[in-house]
Amino acid sequence: MLRRLHPDQPESFAFTQANQAWAEAQITKYPEGRQASAIIPLLWRAQEQEGWLSRAAIEHVAEMLGMAYIRALEVATFYFMFQLQPVGSVAHIQICGTTSCMICGAEDLVAVCKEKIAKRPHQLSSDGKFSWEEVECLGACSNAPMAQIGKDYYEDLTAESFAKLLDDLAAGKVPTPGPQNGRFASEPLGGLTTLHDFIGEAQNGSVALATKLGDTIKRIDGTEVPLIAPWQGVEKVKPVPSKKAKKAEAKPAATAPVDGTGVSKQEARAKAKAKPEAVAKAGEGGAKPEMLKKAKGKADDLKKLKGVGPKLEKLLNELGVFHFWQIAGWSADEVTWVDDRLKFKGRIARDGWIEQAKILAEGGETEFSKRQ
Ligand code: FES
Repeated sequence: MLRRLHPDQPESFAFTQANQAWAEAQITKYPEGRQASAIIPLLWRAQEQEGWLSRAAIEHVAEMLGMAYIRALEVATFYFMFQLQPVGSVAHIQICGTTSCMICGAEDLVAVCKEKIAKRPHQLSSDGKFSWEEVECLGACSNAPMAQIGKDYYEDLTAESFAKLLDDLAAGKVPTPGPQNGRFASEPLGGLTTLHDFIGEAQNGSVALATKLGDTIKRIDGTEVPLIAPWQGVEKVKPVPSKKAKKAEAKPAATAPVDGTGVSKQEARAKAKAKPEAVAKAGEGGAKPEMLKKAKGKADDLKKLKGVGPKLEKLLNELGVFHFWQIAGWSADEVTWVDDRLKFKGRIARDGWIEQAKILAEGGETEFSKRQ
């Protein structure tokens, strides 16, 4: 089967702040020069967040790990666990079609998928909520036939119980993972012969947690459980400042104007550090930064900021943002205000706009802008 990037790709990808922190912590598990070893967990997290892996996500992960894009693409296209096309917004169903499941009724489950979701695998249902595919043995053969949804297994299925499961998912419910015929795990179908007092619902930790989190149908944004990185000696991982950001901090101010806006580099730097006195006190939605009616001189090419494409640049211009020095000067409250008006919340912090804008406002280049 050919595994290629989907023809329709989003403009950009960014981890949520929590997922970014998690990803940066994963990288610290590996010795210097071996960061590429974190490729699979990072790609997986990107997929858990978005549902599938876009080109932008693969490139983002490759950049984080200092890898050539092609190397990351090789990993993403090699492993079938990575979805290279959009999947159902509620669930992507993976039906095991290998021997035990096939003998025990996997074909009936596939028929339900064809009837309720779409005729072909990897095709979205008409409401966009579901997609399905047939996969190789998922290692739950004693509970055949079974299906994987997200991280969870739904086992001992019949066409009827599986159809109901899909209906429940469509209705926004989170069906309890595990065997669907009353079994606790893979104990004998005829009933327990030992450990009578031990086995019970409460002991099935993975099922209990998945149900509590709604994990099966949830996009993982990193806020579900505390991010723990014991090897860093902390419970909650803090984002590690990037080399770019450190470099930007260390760079001395220059004296000449940066561009046709007439705003000197010192002014840009001062603005970046200034307290937002001119703006209203921050409420829940943040504080509106100083906006311009039009560009001062020539507008900056905001697409030089990683994460900003033509559509986002237009949106920023409509809000009154034309220059890097404006973005470089945003306070946390102002970021919140602008963030509220963008399609994907949290993208300013995730993509590091402020750090990038500080460099660009001073006439410097970022790794991303150099490639423009
Ligand atoms: S054959 Fe289906 S899980 Fe192994």
